Amino acid sequence: MFSKVYSMGLNGMDAYRVEVETDLSSGLPYFEIVGLADAAVREARERIKIAMKNSRIPFPTGRIITNLAPADIKKEGTVFDLAVLIGLACANGTIQMPLSDFAFAGELSLEGHLRRTNGILPMVIKARELGFRGIFVPAENAVEGSVADGIDVYGVEKVGDLVALLSQGELPSPTQFPGIPEEDPLAIVDFSDVRGQPQARRAMEIAAAGGHNILMVGPPGSGKSMLAKRMGTILPEMTFEEAIETTKIHSVAGLLSAQRPMITKRPFRSPHHTISPAGLSGGGPIPRPGELSLAHNGVLFLDELPEFNRVSMEALRQPLEDSQITITRVRGTLTYPCSVVLVAAMNPCPCGYYGHPTRKCTCSPTAVSKYLSRVSGPLLDRFDLHIDVSPVDFSSLSQKLPSESSSVIRDRVNRTRAIQNQRYEGTGITCNARLSPKLLHEVCEMSPEAENCLKLSFERLGLSARAYDRILKVARTIADMEMSDRIEFHHMAEAVRYRSLDRKYWGANQD
Ligand SMILES: Nc1ncnc2c1ncn2[C@@H]1O[C@H](COP(=O)(O)OP(=O)(O)O)[C@@H](O)[C@H]1O
Ligand SMILES: [Mg+2]
Repeated sequence: MFSKVYSMGLNGMDAYRVEVETDLSSGLPYFEIVGLADAAVREARERIKIAMKNSRIPFPTGRIITNLAPADIKKEGTVFDLAVLIGLACANGTIQMPLSDFAFAGELSLEGHLRRTNGILPMVIKARELGFRGIFVPAENAVEGSVADGIDVYGVEKVGDLVALLSQGELPSPTQFPGIPEEDPLAIVDFSDVRGQPQARRAMEIAAAGGHNILMVGPPGSGKSMLAKRMGTILPEMTFEEAIETTKIHSVAGLLSAQRPMITKRPFRSPHHTISPAGLSGGGPIPRPGELSLAHNGVLFLDELPEFNRVSMEALRQPLEDSQITITRVRGTLTYPCSVVLVAAMNPCPCGYYGHPTRKCTCSPTAVSKYLSRVSGPLLDRFDLHIDVSPVDFSSLSQKLPSESSSVIRDRVNRTRAIQNQRYEGTGITCNARLSPKLLHEVCEMSPEAENCLKLSFERLGLSARAYDRILKVARTIADMEMSDRIEFHHMAEAVRYRSLDRKYWGANQD
């Protein structure tokens, strides 16, 4: 007897269809799986055999060959367990109903339970694209899978129950998407909580308006973390497509739950500085998306930037430029998207008070420069805006009137983003921060005064060539915020100010 059922495999973020062909013939007992990566075969055979025994599903007698096609992709992982078992039950005649409109994905336990499996959402979405009517997934992943509409998602807890149902020609009832749970009101942060700090607020707004990376330097307690946590609240709301893209990454990383099946708010990821390079950028023996990709379409916050491992920091440079990260492995490469606004914070020196208005810094000049030099020039250049955050003064802290709220700021950001969306339609980019060098000069018309300001600052501040493009992008955003087609002098003068820290702290070291 012969059977064919379908499963889904995963390569990075991309799911693909797998045909599971099973051939039964008479002969001595023999069970072989071909088309799987070598090490996984033996384990899969044993697991499936024992799961069937423990679920009272008859194991076929005789010679069994199971083929997972396409054979040229060496399949890893355990996600094909369920399909292989169903294939055996079909070839054996236990299940007789036609199943060619359905896909099966999930790992089995020896008891015959389906285990939580990573990457179910991209598989469900791909199965829908391929025209499958339904997909069977582990019960624990069913809510996550039901985020995609247009396909029935069946949650399976015990494979024995499923086979019993299918052998009677019946289907279980599909999982209904329960909707997005309300957010905990205590967890909501808002810019109205931040007192004073007009310069820092302004810089955050520019960063949000143009999608720029921002670095904050200031003493402990000056509110850097507080500001960073509120960046997501002034970025435009996520579009549905962005929400699905980000949710897919969280699915691949196995971070979704029935309580939180979909990411609808821009993620805010704040990894500790002890994180490994693979944890930050992605990879590892069983490759997973890193914090950088988990922050896709949201904010990656690196607090205490100089404390991060040098390798981790340097590994961010290329992906920040490309908005995607490629992980090289023995069996080819994987790509995860990582379009983020990077927000970083740091003290200006080991004690934290270098340049403080009232407190004395206890660090030696060498200690200060050693500390700063942990952040390399090229990484520093990935930040379009550098700002000094000084501690908030007493009069601002005690002011009665609440500060401007996130929603008011976000309205302005949305307006500026609309201008950019229109300007960049069809170019593949959406905001000024992503401008390519070629496009940059096309869209940055400057007044003669603005151009002169840029030239003078370039010479006087000794800016690097890399800094030049950054300033121009920020000036473009500031002009857009005022709905000005041309970059005027005051736009440029402000943009230049956000580079002056290069010189204040890093001096000539920055190249
Ligand atoms: N501008 C401000 N308005 C209101 N509270 C502030 C402000 N700046 C600092 N704080 C208070 O100080 C605390 C410490 O700030 P934090 O953001 O952790 O500083 P940093 O990260 O720079 O060390 C915050 O939790 C907040 O309560
Ligand atoms: Mg902090």
